[in-house]
Amino acid sequence: MNDKPHISVLYNEVIDLFAPVEMTRFIDATLGAAGHSLGILEGHPELKEFVGVDQDDVALEIAKEKLAPFKNKLQLIKGNFRDLEKLAPSEKYDGILVDLGVSSMHFDEGARGFSFRFDAPLDMRMDQSQPLTAKEVVNSYSEGDLGRIFRDFGEEKYWRRAAKEIVKRRAEKEIETTFELREVLDPIWPAYVKRKATAPVTKVFQALRIEVNGELEAIRAFLPQALSLLNPKGRLAVISFHSLEDRLVKRFFQEAASDKVSTSGRGGVFLDKEPHVKLVTRGACKPTEEEISQNPRSRSARLRVAEKL
Ligand SMILES: C[S@@+](CC[C@H](N)C(=O)[O-])C[C@H]1O[C@@H](n2cnc3c(N)ncnc32)[C@H](O)[C@@H]1O
Repeated sequence: MNDKPHISVLYNEVIDLFAPVEMTRFIDATLGAAGHSLGILEGHPELKEFVGVDQDDVALEIAKEKLAPFKNKLQLIKGNFRDLEKLAPSEKYDGILVDLGVSSMHFDEGARGFSFRFDAPLDMRMDQSQPLTAKEVVNSYSEGDLGRIFRDFGEEKYWRRAAKEIVKRRAEKEIETTFELREVLDPIWPAYVKRKATAPVTKVFQALRIEVNGELEAIRAFLPQALSLLNPKGRLAVISFHSLEDRLVKRFFQEAASDKVSTSGRGGVFLDKEPHVKLVTRGACKPTEEEISQNPRSRSARLRVAEKL
């Protein structure tokens, strides 16, 4: 584990949005380094049960140590938030937070293959007990499936070229490491893409990570479960990091807040004409310039909060 701590994004905003709620039970569905959790526990001495979920053993270990002063209220659970209803020890909660994506611990720990800045085996699993790795995706998916992932999960303009080049090069030799993948893709980028501040392979890496960890399906499964676990006046806060995630959350919240029947399947499926939530944040809450300058990774973060009716 590296020694750079994870900086919690939109920290003050999250704490402020839960501040007005009297909370007996709370779930942090993405515990990570427990920065938000600690703030919530400190700000809500009335809490009787605090559930922290993470699929990563290392995150759970760090959180256990950090939250030790509150250990009599804590239930730390290893699991995926797509199974939240099964994981939650109680029936109802007053607040639920999910801070999506990969923590800085993952990006900065080269060995886990999340970052093209470090040479490492192509792994990218947040839950290391899961079988699917990025190496498996890169070396066994068809050209069509690779292209679809790069287009849909990376919004990569050169998705066709990327898939084609991978399939060509892996026929010569299996692509095993982050640096090998970067080198394989190097010839496909036009000069103007290479001149940009963001490395050209960024979107391909993002797409592979989303596929390996089933990130979008997990969010789709999580949102209705979180809503049904909330007490009236309970709040659900979601921090997302890219437009694919934020779009899912935005649609779900809009449909849950609407008094029209919705079966679009894009967000949630609400078959009655009752609104289920009121939106606490109008639009998405974004980091301030000051936060972005202190923690550039917060740049794309968006926070949406809904209150159960
Ligand atoms: C951005 S970090 C959370 C940081 C935390 N809010 C803090 O303040 O330190 C996201 C964490 O969620 C975990 N995670 C991501 N997707 C998950 C999922 N589907 N189920 C459970 N944990 C998940 C990751 O392992 C990571 O530790």
